[in-house]
Amino acid sequence: MQGWRVGWMGLLLLGVGLLAVYLWPRPKPLTTQPSPPTVVHPASPLAPFAQRAVPVPEDNPQTPAKVELGRRLFFDPRLSKDGKVACASCHKPEFAFSDGGKPVSTGIFGRQGSRNAPSLTNVAFRRHLFWEGRSPRLELQAVGPLTAHDEMGMEPEELAQRLGAIPEYAKAFQEVFGEPPTLKTTTYAIAAFERTLLSYNSPFDRYQAGDDKAMSEAALRGMELFFSEKGDCFHCHVGPEFTDDEPRNTALYTVYKDIGLARATGRDEDVGKFKTPTLRNVALTAPYMHDGSIQTLREAVQHYNQGGQPNLNADALIRPLGLTEAEVDDLVAFLRSLTDESFGTNPAFLPP
Ligand code: HEC
Ligand code: HEC
Repeated sequence: MQGWRVGWMGLLLLGVGLLAVYLWPRPKPLTTQPSPPTVVHPASPLAPFAQRAVPVPEDNPQTPAKVELGRRLFFDPRLSKDGKVACASCHKPEFAFSDGGKPVSTGIFGRQGSRNAPSLTNVAFRRHLFWEGRSPRLELQAVGPLTAHDEMGMEPEELAQRLGAIPEYAKAFQEVFGEPPTLKTTTYAIAAFERTLLSYNSPFDRYQAGDDKAMSEAALRGMELFFSEKGDCFHCHVGPEFTDDEPRNTALYTVYKDIGLARATGRDEDVGKFKTPTLRNVALTAPYMHDGSIQTLREAVQHYNQGGQPNLNADALIRPLGLTEAEVDDLVAFLRSLTDESFGTNPAFLPP
C-alpha cells in the first residue's frame, strides 16, 4: 500500500515537472519580418540573395521613422565624449562602412584602438559580432563602441542627457519609442539603421541573377577556384554572405599578439581564432585581417597559398595550396567582383 502511494506521488510530481518545463517561457526566437522599403536597394536587380528576409528581433521591429533616427545617430559625433567621433568615423560609407586604409581606428581624444574596423555590409545577417564573435546582436553590440574608452567613451546618463537636450532628438525619440532618449533606445534605433545596410549589386550578384557578361573571364575562373577543393575558400567563406560566422585560426602568426577568442574563453585552443569576415565589398575594405596587417588582396591570397605560419591551432584547411601566380590573380579578380559600387553612394546610407 505504502509503496503504491509513493509510486503515484512520484508519477504526479513527474507530471507536474514535465508540465512546468513545457510551460516555462522559452527565449524568443529571432523572427523574420518583411523588409522595410529602405532595405531594397534602388539599384538592386533583385538577385536571389537580395530577396531573403532580413532577420529582425521581435523586440525591435523596423519602422521607417526608427531607421531614419538611427541614421542620424550613426553619423552624429555628438554621441561621443569629445563630440568628434561618430560611428561613421570608423565605419565610412565609401569604404563599405569600414575604416578605409587604416589598420586600426582612432577614437576620442586621438586614442588608438587595436583592431581593424570591420565592414558593416549586410551586417543584419551576422550571427555573432566583433572579431571573436562575442556579441549576439546589434542592439547589444552598439553599447560597446558608445561606452568604450578608446572609441566614443560616453556614460549612459551623459548620453541620455545630451541627446535629450537636443530638441529634434527629444521629439524623434518620443515619436519612435514614446520615451526620451536612453542608451537602450539609442542602440535600438542605430541597430534598425544598420539592418538596412544591404548590398547585393556586385558583378557576382548580377551574374547570379542571369547576366552572363557581368563577370570577367578571370573572375569566373577565380570563382571556380574559390568554390573548389583546390582553393577551399568556400568552407569558411560560405553562403551568400561569404562567412560561416565562426571563429577560425588561419595561421596568420605563430605567436598572436591579439589572442582572439581566447580573450573571452581563456582556453589555449582558442588562441588566434577570429570570426571569418564577409568577403562582400572586400576590395573596398583594405587593409585586411583583425589587425589590418595585410595590405592588399593579392597578399591575402598569397597568405593562404603559402599555408600560413606554423601554429598549433591552425585550421586543417590552412595548408599550402600550390596555386600558380595566374591562379592567384584569378582569385583576386573574383574577390574584386564582389564589389557593389552603388553601396557607398546610396543616399539612404549617407548622412541625412
Ligand atoms: C573608434 C572607431 C570605432 C567607432 C567610433 C565605432 N566602431 Fe564599430 N568597430 C570598430 C572596431 C575596431 C571593431 C572591431 C572590434 C572588435 O572586434 O573587438 C568594430 C566592430 C563593429 C561591429 C561588429 C561587426 C562584425 O561584423 O563583427 C559593428 C556592428 C559596429 N562596430 C558598429 C558600430 C556602431 C553602431 C558604432 C557607433 C555606436 C560604432 N561601431 C562605432 C571601430 C569603431
Ligand atoms: C579556415 C577558414 C578559412 C579558409 C579556408 C579561408 N578563410 Fe579567409 N578568412 C578566414 C578568417 C578567420 C579570416 C580573418 C583572420 C584574422 O583576422 O586573423 C579571413 C580573412 C580573409 C580575408 C581578409 C578579409 C578582411 O576583411 O580582412 C580575405 C580577403 C580572405 N580571407 C580570403 C580568403 C580566400 C581567397 C580563401 C581561399 C584561398 C580563404 N579566405 C580561405 C577564414 C578562412
